[in-house]
Amino acid sequence: MNNIIKRYYKWPTRINEINKNNSHLVGKEVKVKGWVRNIRNQKSVSFVEINDGSSVKGLQIVGDKDSFSKLKYGSSIEINGRLISSLGNTDKNAVEVQLTEPYKLIGQCPDEFPLQPKNHSFEFLREIAHIRSRGNSIGALLRVRNESTQLIHRYFNENGFINVHTPIITASDCEGGGEQFQVKSSLDTKDALFFGQPSYLTVSGQLEAEIYASSHSRVYTFGPTFRAEKSNTTRHLSEFWMIEPEMSFIDLNDNLDIAEDFLKYLISNLLKNSKDDIEFFNKRIDTNLLSRLEKTLSSKFVRLEYKDAISLLQNNGHSNIKWGDDIQREHEKFITSHFGDIPVFVINWPKSIKPFYMRENDQSQSLNDSNSMATVSNMDLLVPTVGELIGGSIREERYDKLLNTINQLGMDKEQYSWYLDLRKYGTVPHGGFGLGFERFLQYVTGLQNIRDVIPIPRYQNYCKF
Ligand code: 4AD
Repeated sequence: MNNIIKRYYKWPTRINEINKNNSHLVGKEVKVKGWVRNIRNQKSVSFVEINDGSSVKGLQIVGDKDSFSKLKYGSSIEINGRLISSLGNTDKNAVEVQLTEPYKLIGQCPDEFPLQPKNHSFEFLREIAHIRSRGNSIGALLRVRNESTQLIHRYFNENGFINVHTPIITASDCEGGGEQFQVKSSLDTKDALFFGQPSYLTVSGQLEAEIYASSHSRVYTFGPTFRAEKSNTTRHLSEFWMIEPEMSFIDLNDNLDIAEDFLKYLISNLLKNSKDDIEFFNKRIDTNLLSRLEKTLSSKFVRLEYKDAISLLQNNGHSNIKWGDDIQREHEKFITSHFGDIPVFVINWPKSIKPFYMRENDQSQSLNDSNSMATVSNMDLLVPTVGELIGGSIREERYDKLLNTINQLGMDKEQYSWYLDLRKYGTVPHGGFGLGFERFLQYVTGLQNIRDVIPIPRYQNYCKF
């Protein structure tokens, strides 16, 4: 801290640095800049709380009776003062700043500022998406999002993965759902498209990541993905971020082990590195958050065959579901609560409802022998409160099998010839998964609506600024 104060003397000191158990720095001069969060004018003394976004805890500034009489909530100011022990604080290490010169107003904030020092509803905050980051919840979210991003790269780096930047514009439809945004260019004409063929915003970086898993063994991509779904729910965005590791020489059990280890690594490190923010969410958003996260860390995730999931549902009042159906949100809720609110991998789903690239289980492994009952080597991870958090699979590495599926589905074989080539030249068993970053952030913050865990959301009928 001493060094930080010295080194950045010309810069303002970040408030989180000041708040870090710094009672030994009492007496030091500091310069701080931030936005006013609270003003209290008392008889002989006045207080202002400012925040610069570095921490959920603001910094209290103490001045004389009239020091802040003209100051308005939301304004930006510069403070020059001396660190003193915070008398009114139960934490004996807490410090605050005693003004040594009048504050400097940087930007005035008029009375019509839409945020006030109170808890606003998330619906209201979404209407002012350009201002909402000044509040505590979105402020804390951005720090947790940032910390998670660093941890994701760290995990893969520590485990020998190589990062691949897969393209955002693609000609493939990885998930085969046709839920793509087509790319148009100003140079397109009726007869000639810019790329000479239709192109789209990617729904997943997986297919391109497979190219590099076929040469570098262990790779991952972490980027924005786009889906033109009509899913106006608290779990769907049109633009969301996905983390997709792709690994050669693995089987389904390896894939499950890695997904579980990865998730636990992120959560356990967030509980340490983002302690204040997660505690804030536990207090303000969901009082079961911490216990749920700790339970996730201490439990072995359940591994449940799809066919057993269907029987479980049928035997527990969900008589409308049958083998071959997708598992709906209400079913996901039942399954996770049935296992005591711990994450559940549902594995080996029917081939008929899954994308073309998933590896068909061998008949000996598959419990069903007719083709229509074929299953694939895949997994969905269901977690309490959020539902499906991860989707992944072993990929079909056998050329003939893959070609057969491509033909059966009526896909353009030429379009996927490069993908078939990966199976022609030195094919290997391989697989991976996609973790929806925003759903992960919902899980670790307790925030209920996915639109509140991304800095600037994109969803149907909403593409403001
Ligand atoms: O299950 P999905 O569609 O899997 C894939 O895209 C694979 N290609 C991934 C892979 O194997 N490399 O999506 C993966 C995850 C889901 O489990 C969910 O968490 C998230 O992405 N997701 C969404 N998140 C927000 N909004 C949407 N519209 C989402 N669709 C999927």
